[in-house]
Amino acid sequence: MDEARRLSSKLLPAGIAVQEDEPRAVATRLLPAEEPVIARAVAKRRMEYASGRTLARRALEGAGFEHAASFAILQDEQRAPLWPEGFTGSITHTVGRVAAAALSTSLFRGVGLDVEREAPLSEGVAKRVLTPEDEAMLARLRSADRAFAGKLVFSAKECAYKCQYALTQTYLGFDAMWVEVDLDASIFIAHFQREVGEFAEGATLEGRFARGEGLVMTAVAYA
Ligand SMILES: CC(C)(COP(=O)(O)OP(=O)(O)OC[C@H]1O[C@@H](n2cnc3c(N)ncnc32)[C@H](O)[C@@H]1OP(=O)(O)O)[C@@H](O)C(=O)NCCC(=O)NCCS
Repeated sequence: MDEARRLSSKLLPAGIAVQEDEPRAVATRLLPAEEPVIARAVAKRRMEYASGRTLARRALEGAGFEHAASFAILQDEQRAPLWPEGFTGSITHTVGRVAAAALSTSLFRGVGLDVEREAPLSEGVAKRVLTPEDEAMLARLRSADRAFAGKLVFSAKECAYKCQYALTQTYLGFDAMWVEVDLDASIFIAHFQREVGEFAEGATLEGRFARGEGLVMTAVAYA
């Protein structure tokens, strides 16, 4: 995918290897140990899983992991990818886009990446995802920006969730954080609303977002 179309290009600090493409354009390569995970999956899920794993291996290689090509990325019971010792990463996919990041844990201990179609949240999803603090933040924005910002909050929560999971191994509901967005600066700050592992109540994760081609991508790295 040419550089101009890549949403991920300026989202994460130097040293973090990021791969992004259209799922159909990825010459996918699954390793035998990964096959059982999607043995009974429908074609769409096979495509997203295989393209995500393939890009994750390329990202691991870019991050300096020597055995990337033969490393099967299995998953834990919460579906979180299991990275090789000394490395971490994140995988995301949606219709038309797949991306993966990988890095040495000597640089950052956690990373999160999320991509979503830009379409606004349905009323039902908004109710489930947005806390009163999110709602108050959205109400302070210009009304024309609120639909996009609502979807951005959703993506930022999933991104921050993936990042914190590497450190806490804890599943969090959407009420665990509220998100502040700065649409001009293309940044977001996810605020923990309760203590989770090493993250105290009020602790924050600050990330960046990019928007284009009907997609929004969020990314965060935590040292
Ligand atoms: C797991 C979850 C975040 C995935 O997000 P999504 O938008 O549905 O899908 P994405 O394509 O962006 O991400 C899926 C990938 O995330 C990764 N992933 C799944 N669970 C993960 C976890 N606990 N930690 C880190 N990464 C995880 C996997 O690589 C997965 O792809 P794969 O199954 O092909 O390997 C989402 O399904 C979920 O369960 N959300 C509820 C938890 C949450 O977000 N809480 C908000 C706290 S404020």
